[in-house]
Amino acid sequence: MAAIRALGTHAGVGVPSLPLMTDEMSTGGLDRRSFLALGAAATGAVLVPATPALAGRTVRASGPVFTLGVASGDPLPDSVILWTRLAPQPLELDGGMGKATATVEWEIARDEAFTVERQSGSVEATPTYGHSVHIDVKGLTPDTWYYYRFKHGSEISTVGRTRTTPELGASMSRLVVGQTSCANWQSGYYQLYSDLAAQQPDYWLALGDYIYEYGNKGYMRPSQTKPTRPIPWTDETHTVWQYRRQYGLYRSAPELQELHAAAPYSVIWDDHEVDNNFAASKSGGDGQKDRVKFRKRRAAGFQAFWENHAIRIPQPEPMPRRMKIYREITWGSLATYLMLDGRQYRSDQPGDNTPADFGKWVKGMVDPKATMLGANQEAWLNERLADSTSRWTYMAQQTVFSDVNGSVGLGLPADGLYNYDSWDGYWVPRERLTSSITTNQVRNPVILTGDFHCNLAFDVLESWPDPQNFPSMAECIKATLTWDKPAIAAEIATGAISSPTFFGEGGVVELAGPPTLAKTPWAAYGELLGNGYVLHEVTPEANRATYRVCQANFKSDTTEGKPRTDKTVVLVDGVPGVSEVV
Ligand SMILES: [Fe+2]
Repeated sequence: MAAIRALGTHAGVGVPSLPLMTDEMSTGGLDRRSFLALGAAATGAVLVPATPALAGRTVRASGPVFTLGVASGDPLPDSVILWTRLAPQPLELDGGMGKATATVEWEIARDEAFTVERQSGSVEATPTYGHSVHIDVKGLTPDTWYYYRFKHGSEISTVGRTRTTPELGASMSRLVVGQTSCANWQSGYYQLYSDLAAQQPDYWLALGDYIYEYGNKGYMRPSQTKPTRPIPWTDETHTVWQYRRQYGLYRSAPELQELHAAAPYSVIWDDHEVDNNFAASKSGGDGQKDRVKFRKRRAAGFQAFWENHAIRIPQPEPMPRRMKIYREITWGSLATYLMLDGRQYRSDQPGDNTPADFGKWVKGMVDPKATMLGANQEAWLNERLADSTSRWTYMAQQTVFSDVNGSVGLGLPADGLYNYDSWDGYWVPRERLTSSITTNQVRNPVILTGDFHCNLAFDVLESWPDPQNFPSMAECIKATLTWDKPAIAAEIATGAISSPTFFGEGGVVELAGPPTLAKTPWAAYGELLGNGYVLHEVTPEANRATYRVCQANFKSDTTEGKPRTDKTVVLVDGVPGVSEVV
């Protein structure tokens, strides 16, 4: 706890406190004056164009429209993306906005009174894109905090704060970054989002499963007889309307809105933004074998993803066949975040990964033609690794990178137990990436992982025990116990914000988990039963990754549900892998 409190102050960068919604704001009282001064002169902003057929049919919604809060993302030294979405009825398929276009004004400034270095403008929020608003504000001062807000009619949104990155190459003494993933609605509460907001991070990452596609019949813990938080519909998401409504539900959570209002973020999707365990254009196998229908579903999921995030990518065409989300965010000379997409381009998982996700070693795991990132993204990543001059280079991605053979703990099942959906199912592409990290002499490479619903840290090795090189799996497991290869990087995997913890799922996985981690030499840390997120304190000397955990199916005012610090994993500049767990 003491370490976390120490992270609350930011050396070198003035951090304003998060302003609370005031009566003036909510009624549109005094603040209307500054908004009335707004012209259409959006200084350097990229506006979302109105759909021609609907232009002119601007409406003023009756009732609160900013029910989904505000957000900012993908900061640059002079720019940040501001986001909101109008949804007076967020649990309706159309968000309650119907088919009309609506005018939204925006405002950003360095001070809470919106007077210093102020910029403003207005945009049309259209039904084509779910009445979402994306503003690419330019001309901002590097390494600086800002306030922003939106207005529609007489209603003013809550105020968010955001910040720019330092100029490329500029020194930065300290950066506090949250790492989150997997926030299934039905299986827990969002106190970990709130807890992260309270740490006053500079920036945070959402590594996928920000929503799940399930209706009320979906995904709960074995201990749950009914959802912790019910969903008012039973259908899984298939249409863009359903995905929008799903985001409407998830984003209606005050804890998530609090976090979004506290700091900018960068997001990537994992499978549940579309469908469990999907691979490129193939459904995860839980009911949609028709690839044509699945491509339609994927396009709907992709469109709604763009609509509902402050992400710096071009506005996609409606129902996009593909959407490039891999990109880079750099914080001066201190840190580079390479945001990767391990879903859209991957080859199919090598084995039947339903319903258990895990299976025995199969030849497909070492298919030389397999790909996790696709050729173009892999080439881009190699280039970025070659060019990175940052003190810390992060590969922010979805699934567990390090080898985990679930048979190591108990020796059972005798033919191995692997998660085909993770990089274990993509052995050859993984070798290509580890060799790229080594060849390019990347300084302090760190792989950041979501997906697995466990709090974990690994030494990433130059090679792991490959069952092909042993006469039997028993021999491979025996070699694992004393495996001693150099670390080339570290892997930090976050627990889930609220999704069921992986090793609480029952069966062999639950039994095998703890002894497997204990007997896997490159596993540096594991807390397998709790929900969690990771709070990184990044300095030129070290990256201290603090694991904040709780049981999110309990409320935050209970002993089980109150977030606490478990351990801090320390990575040291110039020392590959995990140096210490304290
Ligand atoms: Fe997940």
